Amino acid sequence: MKLNRILPFARNLLHLAVGEGDYAVDATIGNGHDTVMLASLVGETGHVYGFDIQQEALESTTSRIKDKQLFDRVSLFQKSHDQLLATIPNKAHGKISGAVFNLGYLPGGNKEIVTKPDSTIKAIEQLLEIMKPEGIIVLVVYHGHEEGAVERDQLLEFCTILDQNRAHVLMYRFMNQVNNPPFIIAIEKR
Ligand SMILES: C[S@@+](CC[C@H](N)C(=O)[O-])C[C@H]1O[C@@H](n2cnc3c(N)ncnc32)[C@H](O)[C@@H]1O
Repeated sequence: MKLNRILPFARNLLHLAVGEGDYAVDATIGNGHDTVMLASLVGETGHVYGFDIQQEALESTTSRIKDKQLFDRVSLFQKSHDQLLATIPNKAHGKISGAVFNLGYLPGGNKEIVTKPDSTIKAIEQLLEIMKPEGIIVLVVYHGHEEGAVERDQLLEFCTILDQNRAHVLMYRFMNQVNNPPFIIAIEKR
């Protein structure tokens, strides 16, 4: 048997959580790979809300979802994910079954624009308010860069003290790999 690597494990969780007709959130759209995956999972009757602060990410993701003819089931916002509560329409509140954060910087983009612990944690708090019970938040934590290590530490602190009556929190990490490989935090809303 081969253990699931980090990205396949993240995708697998989302495949299990998100089904046809659901609402889902891509909190860091970047080049849109996760947006496309979520849009495929929600089908024609569901919807994906995507966030990124960079215009480049919006352009790249728009072109990718248009190519795959998924444009009608996706709404993209050039906003920080800590605005998601005010941005996602009320009709989706209580019906979001999956959300994903790929932390760090845009691959091939400006490495100085990175996710920050404060807004990441605010966005998680907001998601916990508006997701449906048993909805899953998947965070892929890249901590090989300086700010990534700070974000990792604050996230781990936040997750460790999250009330177990509110959420189950899982960490999936290869412990013996060198060079700070990414790991997963998965949060299931109770
Ligand atoms: C690792 S990339 C995401 C990669 C993406 N999943 C893909 O498929 O290409 C991280 C993204 O987070 C974005 N970002 C940084 N801070 C953010 C914030 N506060 N809200 C939303 N997106 C943010 C960056 O602009 C960057 O595009």
